[in-house]
Amino acid sequence: MALDESVRAQMASIVERYPRSRSAVMPMLHLAQSAEGEVSDEAMRVIADMLDLTTAEVTAVATFYTMYKRRPVGKHLIGVCTNTLCGLLGGDAVYAALTDRLGVGHDETTADGMFTLERIECQAACTHAPVMTVDWEFMDCQTPSSAVEVVDRLARGETVVSTRGPAIRDFEATEHTLAFPDDGLAGQGGEADDMMLAGLRVAHELGMSAPPVPGQES
Ligand code: FES
Repeated sequence: MALDESVRAQMASIVERYPRSRSAVMPMLHLAQSAEGEVSDEAMRVIADMLDLTTAEVTAVATFYTMYKRRPVGKHLIGVCTNTLCGLLGGDAVYAALTDRLGVGHDETTADGMFTLERIECQAACTHAPVMTVDWEFMDCQTPSSAVEVVDRLARGETVVSTRGPAIRDFEATEHTLAFPDDGLAGQGGEADDMMLAGLRVAHELGMSAPPVPGQES
């Protein structure tokens, strides 16, 4: 789908959120990805026009952040954290298993357009390493076989639920949420578990506390 009038109207509503219009550039790029499955040259020109920026300025943002894709993403974006902790605890093996299953490597898309695979950096979820994401939803504590099973189930059209979030939708739906965060799904998924709270528990046991906020010391 191209940037039709509906998409442009949504972009205009994003611009209205901010006191300085240029602040809208990032959610507008996510909305473009939601509509087109990538950030196209046309999208960057449209955004630049709407924000009174140069196309070079919008391009600088779209090419700096790895969440913006300059070629079409599959229906599902599969990310495998291969940063230090996840890599050591099995992330490299998870990535290798998915490469075998999908027949693609980093930043490549399967021929049927179903899956794009990529290595990703630390997701700040190291307590549940190795971590995989599907359309940016977490799949915690993966093994090579569990990761392949997730892909198999998605390929069969079955419902897959994030280990700490909602049922997986698709890349374009998640991108729309990144443009319009109030998707009604915030309450879905489990609460913080023991592994997430282990550091806090130890801090309490040791009587540790955060330093006061500057200017608010009592
Ligand atoms: S190293 Fe993978 S989530 Fe931190």
